[in-house]
Amino acid sequence: MTRPRFTNKIVLFLVASAVALLATYLFWSLTPEVKTLLEHRMGARPSPSADTIITVVKLFLIGILAYLFVRALNSLFFALAFSLKRIDTPTLIRNIFTIIVFTILFLVAFTFLFPDVNLGALFTTSAIFGVILGLALQDTLGNFFAGISLQADRPFQVGDVITVGAQRHTGVVEEISWRAIKIRTFQNHIVLIANSNAAREPIEVCPRDNLNARLVFFNTLYTDSPAKTIHVVREAVREADNVSDKVTPIVRIKNLGDNGVDYEVKYWLIDYAKYNDTDALVRQRIWYAFRRAGLNFAFPTRTLHIERRHGSEMRDGDGGAITERLSAVDIFAPLSADETTMLAQAAVRHVFAPGETVIRAGDPGSSMFVVHKGRVSVQVNENGRPRTVATLNEGDFFGEMALFTGEPRTANVLALEETEVLEIGHAAMKRVFDTNPDLVESLSFVMSERREGLASQADSTATSSDSSAGILSAIKRFFGI
Ligand code: CMP
Repeated sequence: MTRPRFTNKIVLFLVASAVALLATYLFWSLTPEVKTLLEHRMGARPSPSADTIITVVKLFLIGILAYLFVRALNSLFFALAFSLKRIDTPTLIRNIFTIIVFTILFLVAFTFLFPDVNLGALFTTSAIFGVILGLALQDTLGNFFAGISLQADRPFQVGDVITVGAQRHTGVVEEISWRAIKIRTFQNHIVLIANSNAAREPIEVCPRDNLNARLVFFNTLYTDSPAKTIHVVREAVREADNVSDKVTPIVRIKNLGDNGVDYEVKYWLIDYAKYNDTDALVRQRIWYAFRRAGLNFAFPTRTLHIERRHGSEMRDGDGGAITERLSAVDIFAPLSADETTMLAQAAVRHVFAPGETVIRAGDPGSSMFVVHKGRVSVQVNENGRPRTVATLNEGDFFGEMALFTGEPRTANVLALEETEVLEIGHAAMKRVFDTNPDLVESLSFVMSERREGLASQADSTATSSDSSAGILSAIKRFFGI
């Protein structure tokens, strides 16, 4: 497509040159006749004189010839000289060359044809000429000098992808002329950005010979393993066309989103100008890789928690594990399977972070807790410092003292690691006590032992059996047994 266009241009150029040469030759040889004709037409006192008109026409014809000559010289010089060095000649340099050579030739012709006119004086003394020229060429000169600085800086070259201008035009640079940067957008439109505008705006450049990266986003269900997802996607993307094998694509979790785990893939392109196609191909490869690996994209989802309420107590859905846990608690050993299940249904699960307080000394309390997972520390304050009284593990219980006596909490209980506890309230315990009066006794014994542990050495005077008897009657009173 470019060949015939090029040939057409040459033919046009040759025809124009031939016509211009012929016209100049004819005008020169017919000068006396033209002069006579003009003088005859203009009468006795012509102004301007016939000579001046003829010289201006000659200057015009020479100007045309000079222009054609400069264009030919330009093509010969740049096409030949630069093609040897295999570099693209910037259009701006070619234009500057044309302007300078043409101006020189024109001025030589002018001084030759108008030897009496002092050109220097004409330019330096004419202030009005300067102002008019300055105003008229304000934008043009701005573009011209911005173009020169673009050529000098070379922030980008023909073939690079750039994003420029207030409208953030993105495309491949096709030409940097004395007036504008010409880019071809990915919709195959041409956008011209005036050099002076481009000089003021930030320009994002993705050089042709640079490894430019792209980001593509996708997501998975929370049930899909991140390690597997990352491996599968990385392998799928690195195989895709136009993805550079010089850098391995990076797949990483970007966010734990509302609908699923959000990922981004960063990959590097061989030809950045084709990033739209490559992004699309990468997404396609991810889809197929997901299909093969059994991974799932996340749709907008909601996790629904259904609570079943009974009175003021909240029952837990995971009854099996809780029943198992409670039946392993030694004080609940005498309970029947039904009673343990009833207790499990009444239990409420709570999770605490390491270091969080589960129970605070002095607070009122009407429930007890069983450690389901993790560990807690029982601490009392002595002389302003915490003293650890006991460490309780999975299957141990605490908080029974306040529950069974109605007194405030006797100690602080803190989670030592991430800990899940089962909270059992007053009402559920009363039901158990009603059918198992023996339970009260074993509990009162545990509580009296704990009381001894709580008291400092100095004031532990009462014996364990005295204290146990006191607690026993306190529990019975409190629960009305
Ligand atoms: P309560 O007083 O309700 O709140 C603090 C809890 O710490 C308490 O019940 C007991 O369950 C527990 N506790 C107090 N002292 C000890 C101890 N010496 N050993 C184990 N646990 C204790």
